[in-house]
Amino acid sequence: MNIHTYEKLWLAAAMVLIVGFIATITYGAVGPGVSMIDDDGGSIDPDAISDHERFGDTGVTHVGGNEYEVDVVAQAWSYSPGEIEVPANSEVTFYVTSRDVTHSFSVVGTNINTMVIPGEVSQMTVEFDEPGEYGILCNEYCGQGHHNMEGKLNVVPEDEFNMTELDVEAPSEVEAGNETTINATVSDGMQTDLETTATLEIGDQRYEEDVTISGDGSETVEFAVDTDELGAGDHDWTVTAAGYEERGTLTVADGNGGSDGGDSDA
Ligand code: CUA
Repeated sequence: MNIHTYEKLWLAAAMVLIVGFIATITYGAVGPGVSMIDDDGGSIDPDAISDHERFGDTGVTHVGGNEYEVDVVAQAWSYSPGEIEVPANSEVTFYVTSRDVTHSFSVVGTNINTMVIPGEVSQMTVEFDEPGEYGILCNEYCGQGHHNMEGKLNVVPEDEFNMTELDVEAPSEVEAGNETTINATVSDGMQTDLETTATLEIGDQRYEEDVTISGDGSETVEFAVDTDELGAGDHDWTVTAAGYEERGTLTVADGNGGSDGGDSDA
């Protein structure tokens, strides 16, 4: 059988194309490390999200080294948390689920783009090398507020990233002569020990205590305040620890009869 030269050329060209197509698809599937969302993340009862150990408290968790986990709940029409902050040079695993209908979790300008289905947990790991700001969008139609469903992801320079938190619990009013305490809770979250000094300044009193907060934990410092020494009136206080500061005011009321009528002992 005689095949025309041009026919042979076209046959060869078609073969090259077919092999080329198969090669690009194979490369796309395994080469750049792209993997499909599967059921690795597990399933969840969408009606009991608030009690779930992962999604009851959403946000960023440091899991060691440069690895972080971010737990996100999508709902009509917002994300919780609405703003996420992670450090640069980190490896971040997102766990996302939905409280109501199908949404998506798409970080604009990255290859993070997953459907979020009630009852399912979408899990994906991404490396962030450079600081940057990214928008998070829902691109799965989910109702009339769909176009407003957005969030924010900030990748901040490593030295600006900090998970330390200071919480102060203080009464606003106390009767003179009664002992009162102001509690300062410092939490670390970075899985390395944090040493700091917690201080309370109130009136001209100053209290100080060194604390070491271990790993993922938190420590509460109780400052017992001498109200007799403070005397009646409003006293501003300042609590500082680990570079953070909280302020408030403590009112010391006259021993008998509350804060009004304070001049009656004249
Ligand atoms: Cu959520 Cu569209």
